[in-house]
Amino acid sequence: MAPPSTADAAVMIDSHLDEAHERGLADDVLDGLTRPFKELPPKHFYDERGCELFDAICELPEYYPTRAERSILESDAEAIVAATGATELVELGSGTAAKTRVLLDAMSDASRLRRYVPFDVAESVVRSSAEQLVAEYPGLRVHGVVGDFERHLDRIPGPDGGQRRIVALLGGTIGNFPPGSRRRLLRRIAALLGPGDHLLLGTDLVKEPAVIEAAYDDAAGVTAEFNRNVLRVVNRELEADFPLDGFAHVAFFDRRNEWIEMRLRALRPCSVMVGALGLRVELAAGEEIRTEISAKFTRTRVEQDFAAAGLRLAGWHTDGDERFALSLAAPA
Ligand code: SAH
Ligand code: AVI
Repeated sequence: MAPPSTADAAVMIDSHLDEAHERGLADDVLDGLTRPFKELPPKHFYDERGCELFDAICELPEYYPTRAERSILESDAEAIVAATGATELVELGSGTAAKTRVLLDAMSDASRLRRYVPFDVAESVVRSSAEQLVAEYPGLRVHGVVGDFERHLDRIPGPDGGQRRIVALLGGTIGNFPPGSRRRLLRRIAALLGPGDHLLLGTDLVKEPAVIEAAYDDAAGVTAEFNRNVLRVVNRELEADFPLDGFAHVAFFDRRNEWIEMRLRALRPCSVMVGALGLRVELAAGEEIRTEISAKFTRTRVEQDFAAAGLRLAGWHTDGDERFALSLAAPA
């Protein structure tokens, strides 16, 4: 094996997920596909192909959240970094850390950048982004954590030498949790914050339903592929035989709950064997599996969720078109 490079020495990765079942896939399939209304949680989209498809979604003309959030970061990252005094960035659901670089640049420009802690369920993106970032930012240390943020938040390393930190959850990922789980997750994140620390939360905002629906049902069909990818993951990891061409991608805005839902609709009656579980799943023609909700927010909803989690809103930043918001929150 080659000796470690300087870059390697700056990277440390802890993995808490060595098998698919540790991500809870088998339990989620058993629970979710034996209910009268079938459902699979969205975290199972993100194998290597799912991460690539998500990155392709971020480039789509219809998918505005990434561009809107990036534009906020580009105009306000300096103010956010100054308001927090942070020298460490912990990022939950970091993915390929594309937008993160805008924050890291602002920390570096303020001579404050010491350590970055990416946390994601997808091991390959944690490893590759860590290697790339230490090469891009001389002196930066990266301590990556591969885990499920509903189960492994306690594995996040403590602040290095009492430094202040920002814990970021960007992209609108908080909206992928239903309201109760969302508040539980925010409470757990709040428990990670010391007195001088802040949460930086990205939330997509309520807007014209047609704009939202187009973002989740693009003309090129990339989101449809991303949606069907969960079936590929189940086929590969649990020896199942879902016919991918037997399912249509469905995305609709639920006005009452103010969230968009993605579902997979069986185009014909379908009898699927999940070999690893010895489970047969029957779907009628037209039956749907819910694969994701993505909640849209107002400032009031964000403030209420923060209050329920023991946090207070300390900063509210939106893009010029008010499509997306970045909130800073501090322990109440
Ligand atoms: N923050 C990035 C990526 C968002 S995609 C951005 O804003 O563009 C959502 C990311 O969250 C994916 O990388 C996915 O692997 C990760 N993720 C989803 N559910 C997770 C969970 N339960 N635990 C840890 N990471 C999760
Ligand atoms: C990661 N998450 C915030 C995305 C969203 O918009 O809810 C996932 C996604 N689903 C379809 N397109 C993108």
